[in-house]
Amino acid sequence: MKFFIDTANLDHIREAHELGILDGVTTNPSLMAKEGITGQANIENHYKKICEIVEGDVSAEVNATDFAGMVKEGTHLSSLAENIVVKVPMTKDGVKAIRHFTDNGIPTNCTLVFSSAQAILAAKAGATYVSPFIGRIDDSNWDGMLLIKEMAEIYAIQGFETQILAASIRNSRHIVEAAKNGADVCTCPLSAILGMLKHPLTDLGLEQFLADYRKGNS
Ligand code: E4P
Repeated sequence: MKFFIDTANLDHIREAHELGILDGVTTNPSLMAKEGITGQANIENHYKKICEIVEGDVSAEVNATDFAGMVKEGTHLSSLAENIVVKVPMTKDGVKAIRHFTDNGIPTNCTLVFSSAQAILAAKAGATYVSPFIGRIDDSNWDGMLLIKEMAEIYAIQGFETQILAASIRNSRHIVEAAKNGADVCTCPLSAILGMLKHPLTDLGLEQFLADYRKGNS
């Protein structure tokens, strides 16, 4: 399973990159706004900075909602760096835009996916990635992992090549469950990635090893 970081924060991206486990980055307009990045020129400049840190795929989301606007914006975004993946929402125009990008060799990430029906459409349009929003499904009183599982089964049966990118990840348990249920990629905040390191028995064990070492070497 590939690991993406879900942020526009350059320090977080660098920290995850330095861990040596980072395969890519996802962003969205809200994450950009959270970092205070506003205005198209600043947003594009920020994508370039992210792409200089990370060699893997970097999702850049279109803000247009009509087909022509998405094609224009997405084509421009994809020209900013070789590793840009154009992120397109799951709408009627979005599906048409994904088909256009697929036919023109531009990789895409179909975002805001909450059902297997939507996931089938994204795959049919040739999306490189499809992003089911696990945490938001859990928040709405359903089980996001059931969606990952069903999507993985359908994609395997149908031979779809679109990669399942588990998004809206809130904690390290989500990452484990997404891996178990067949996600190809997990995009997570830095806190969830660092959360994977933690186990109290690791801390206690290390404390004991160091204490014993000090006893024998003092
Ligand atoms: C996916 O690419 C989105 O950026 C993201 O995972 C949304 O997550 P949220 O529900 O935490 O906003």
